[in-house]
Amino acid sequence: MHRSDDIFHELKALLPGALARRNEPLGKRTTLRVGGCADVYIEPSSEADMAVVLRTCKEEGVPFMVLGRGSNLLIRDGGVRGVVVCLAHPGLSAISVDGRHLRCGAGAKLKAVAAKARETLLGGLEFLEGIPGSVGGALRMNAGAMGSATLEVVTQVRFMDDAGNVHERNIAQVPAQYRSCPLFKTNIALAATFQGHPDSREAIAKRAAEYNQTRWLSQPKEPSAGCIFKNPSPGLSAGKVIDDLGLKGARRGGAVVSTVHGNFIVNEGAATAADVLELIDFIKTRARSERGVELREEVEIIGE
Ligand code: EPU
Repeated sequence: MHRSDDIFHELKALLPGALARRNEPLGKRTTLRVGGCADVYIEPSSEADMAVVLRTCKEEGVPFMVLGRGSNLLIRDGGVRGVVVCLAHPGLSAISVDGRHLRCGAGAKLKAVAAKARETLLGGLEFLEGIPGSVGGALRMNAGAMGSATLEVVTQVRFMDDAGNVHERNIAQVPAQYRSCPLFKTNIALAATFQGHPDSREAIAKRAAEYNQTRWLSQPKEPSAGCIFKNPSPGLSAGKVIDDLGLKGARRGGAVVSTVHGNFIVNEGAATAADVLELIDFIKTRARSERGVELREEVEIIGE
């Protein structure tokens, strides 16, 4: 028997409440919709389950990764070896309200956080609605939009270290940068407390509508992984660099540089990860040779 079969059976026996599958296609779990299968796919039902997955993989020497909403992810066509864990189970994605705070499980969608804030008349979290991610993924990469970033509106985080122990930390003790939060590169985000400020229904709705409008006009509607590259420097948009190079509409197979925003690669339907990766290389080469700009991927690239 393969080792992936062994670990599958072992985890299935240890975690009766979890969803467990073998050879799970991952493309459909990402917004770009490309890439191969996970050897083993698990949705644990609790933090205790999560710790069991982590410890078992460690003991067996099986590689392991956490998948969020898959909106900033490019999975290669050969898929992902070992165990892929997703925190989408209700036990790890609930949202509860406490005054001006929203306590959100890592699996909660940012759209749901924004909706709960709106319902509770808490302002300042409207920008989250347009980010197609989960709380865990947004913490890990300090996701942002409309001039705000996730860790600016979070007061506390809860996470699991690589030995399966759970910690809580005040945000003052969590260093974050543009599109990155190193704490969550080595630890698994479990939950975050978001803070809003009391506001009127009308003011919240107005901001949300403005953001929606801006996004609607400036971002493509086809499947994509959001922005492919980080902005090279504050005030310099990677999308503008790519646009100025005349690369909108450039194509490799079913992958095309969006004609709406240069920093998006869209999947016209039949794109493979190889198509997208070729297009990324082509863009980087042109930006380097013609503009002296070193573009760095914002999207995370994983798998074989
Ligand atoms: N622009 C062009 N051509 C293009 C794209 C943009 O000329 O093809 C110009 C725009 O006209 C604008 C400027 O470049 O004057 C900046 O564009 P935009 O407002 O779209 O912002 P951005 O810097 O390209 C960032 C984030 C987006 C986020 C938007 C809106 C990064 C890498 N991107 O884009 O985040 O949605 O601001 O807040 O930081 C993502 O991270 O996946 C993402 C989409």
